[in-house]
Amino acid sequence: MEGPSKVLVIDDEEIIRNFLIDLLVDQGCTVKAVATGEAGYETAMNEDFDLIIIDFMLPGDDGLNIIEHIRRNDPDAIIIVITGYNSIENMRGALRAGAFDYVPKPFDLEQMTFAVRRALASRHHVKTNKRLMKEVSGQNKILEEKVQERTQKLQVAYEDLKNVYLRIITALISAMEAKDSYTAHHSENVAKYSVALAKEMMLPSDEVELIDRAAQLHDIGKIGILDMVLNKPGKLTEEEFDQIKQHPLKAGEILKPLDFLGSAIQLVTHHHERYDGRGYPFGTPGDQIPLGARIIAVADTYDAIMSERPYRVRQFTKEECIEEIRKNIGSQFDPKVVAAFMRIVDNF
Ligand SMILES: [Fe+2]
Repeated sequence: MEGPSKVLVIDDEEIIRNFLIDLLVDQGCTVKAVATGEAGYETAMNEDFDLIIIDFMLPGDDGLNIIEHIRRNDPDAIIIVITGYNSIENMRGALRAGAFDYVPKPFDLEQMTFAVRRALASRHHVKTNKRLMKEVSGQNKILEEKVQERTQKLQVAYEDLKNVYLRIITALISAMEAKDSYTAHHSENVAKYSVALAKEMMLPSDEVELIDRAAQLHDIGKIGILDMVLNKPGKLTEEEFDQIKQHPLKAGEILKPLDFLGSAIQLVTHHHERYDGRGYPFGTPGDQIPLGARIIAVADTYDAIMSERPYRVRQFTKEECIEEIRKNIGSQFDPKVVAAFMRIVDNF
């Protein structure tokens, strides 16, 4: 509940001060009245007033100056200027300095009462607006905090869900690889080599992470290939090889609903592309193949030839595997990736 309006009167003429005090008290206001600009300014600085009525011409003081000072301290201050020196110029000066109204002397009761009511109504309006704005901004803050809190919780839940999905897929891959002793840990190894290559090529950490994820998932599409084709000892028929060639696309289809994987899916679908454009499934050449996929291709081939295969008479030595990679620079593999591979293969 708001109390009575507080008004400050600054006028050097006692008769005017008393007239205004009577008028304002009749209007239910509490009033302070001072005779000089200096006292008026001091009082206005120390107390909060709903309305200030100031004489334009105070002895020794420029009314305009005082209005500007008061408004600088409180931009919402409502000021009525009264003056015995009525002129358009004075009126303009007062309004320009921030006065709310301008009442020339002599004024009658009705005229001044009207000006005071109008000024107090405006003050009330400004105060109500400010209060409402404060309340709204307080509410907004509470809402913002709630939204932030919920967003954080959702983010945590989303991360949990992502991890569950990834664990399920990884479990699927492990189950698939475990069926065949020759491919056990293949995806894990490919991820390990790919990460080492990506780091050697100074790729940013978010890209290394993407490559790691893609490498772990790269053969998920083999779930959709018949075991008898996948694990066939000996040479594959053309038809069987065509089936095998579908696995990057099948992987893309399996992973597509997991949109958080982003461009990792692209790396998976491109991991059998060749640098000379003769790979599958798209035949994308050279640097048009995503770099991560070119890295996974080298890591994948290296691990595949290092592992025993059912159709192979004997296991390759590490030197033979390295030689196999070297032989395919520029045809199957990106020379930049192989250069990085040669620098770090001793650590594999
Ligand atoms: Fe593959």
